[in-house]
Amino acid sequence: MSPFLLTRTLPEDATDAALRADVQQGLTSTPKTLPPKWFYDAHGSDLFEQITELPEYYPTRAEREILIARSAEIAAATRARTLVELGSGSSDKTRHLIDALTGLHTYVPVDVSESALTQAGQALVAERPGLSVHALIADFTARLELPDTPGPRLLAFLGGTIGNLLPAERAAFLASIRALLSPGDALLLGTDLVKDEQVLVRAYDDAAGVTAAFNKNVLAVVNRELGADFDPGAFDHVALWDTADEWIEMRLRSRTHQTVKVPALDLAVDFAAGEELRTEVSAKFRKEGVRAELAAVGLELTHWWTDSEGRFALSLSTAR
Ligand SMILES: C[S@@+](CC[C@H](N)C(=O)[O-])C[C@H]1O[C@@H](n2cnc3c(N)ncnc32)[C@H](O)[C@@H]1O
Repeated sequence: MSPFLLTRTLPEDATDAALRADVQQGLTSTPKTLPPKWFYDAHGSDLFEQITELPEYYPTRAEREILIARSAEIAAATRARTLVELGSGSSDKTRHLIDALTGLHTYVPVDVSESALTQAGQALVAERPGLSVHALIADFTARLELPDTPGPRLLAFLGGTIGNLLPAERAAFLASIRALLSPGDALLLGTDLVKDEQVLVRAYDDAAGVTAAFNKNVLAVVNRELGADFDPGAFDHVALWDTADEWIEMRLRSRTHQTVKVPALDLAVDFAAGEELRTEVSAKFRKEGVRAELAAVGLELTHWWTDSEGRFALSLSTAR
């Protein structure tokens, strides 16, 4: 079997310190917020996989359709020997790309979820003899140290996850991504597109309640890691479309006036009845906006592919 390496680029207590800092800041701000990366413990990662199979959640199917149709073209355009994937999760759709990249030497999945990386990495090395998999447990918004592997490098960021970053975070993130690319390297970016509000809201508020459970999982993470006493049943899942910002917001709305204790931070947090905690934004994009954001960091959009219903786009860009 080919090698599978798992590297933690941050010490475990750095994750702990980051969670503490985010919870302290987010729960004492107005409005209250928590960053979406804390959804993804092992249970949250499993729930996300269930979301990708929901009838209402079209992005995964749409992006898979594009990857099936375009992976050969992506392979021919990039000739990548190293594929780095940020927020790789189950790496499920990525298999289409890996199969098409005939000269691929190393796959570097990067994720905060150790369980997702281990499952995906072990399955891949078993399925793809000759492929090295070097997984990194890392926060892709922090400075990334990539392993020294052969170029050209293709950096993939799929699933529309870039939409979870706020515009200023996105600009900083894209600049940091650009710094990882040498001449001849490329960025493959998945972006969900602006569309009918009802379709968007349904994708984040499914009838079976899986997205609601995923949203509330962040409370379970804070309870477990910081000893908090959030009652997930005392919050309602909310998904709404912000027309001005063109993003979906997921929130948790407090059903009653309540005080939540976070002993590890020596914090007591008051929620008014109806008060909302923002847990995720998911920005939706237009082609010209994507082109401009890439150009702002010196990346030139060379290809733009959408699924047959025009719901989701994959773009390829190269360093100028
Ligand atoms: C929306 S899911 C997408 C998963 C997969 N790429 C797909 O398209 O189905 C986001 C993924 O990014 C990971 N993630 C979220 N924030 C992250 C961060 N700051 N650093 C690294 N990984 C992160 C999550 O653990 C999860 O696997």
